[in-house]
Amino acid sequence: MIWSKKFVTNVGPIDRQHQLLAALCDMYRVIVDLGMERELCALMLADLARDANAHFDVEDEMMPCRSRMTALHHHRADDDHVFRELRRYQARLAESEWSADDARDCLDMFERWLVDHMTHLDADIHSDVIAA
Ligand SMILES: [Fe+2]
Ligand SMILES: [Fe+2]
Repeated sequence: MIWSKKFVTNVGPIDRQHQLLAALCDMYRVIVDLGMERELCALMLADLARDANAHFDVEDEMMPCRSRMTALHHHRADDDHVFRELRRYQARLAESEWSADDARDCLDMFERWLVDHMTHLDADIHSDVIAA
């Protein structure tokens, strides 16, 4: 995905993680284009879920006190959305044929989520972390 200045939160560890999530998508796009096997699709879905989850944990840890409620509220809907979507792809992979287009569709979904996450939910995270 094309990186943009508008994604920058000015919180170093969070910006680095956002870039890593973007790079993970880029890496899997290259693999899909090379011809991805079914086993690698399962790995892709697991990687996306694991790294998104690790990212939420870091963000929650970085703003522990503004209030715990704020931190929990920050990601609740976001978690639900991206993990629900990833589970939907996992179910589809388990039940049926899985094409390169399905993998690209999944990566498109994840990138849309990431952009929305960075530009909306995380847009004010700098002040949240400073205030914590
Ligand atoms: Fe966030
Ligand atoms: Fe984030």
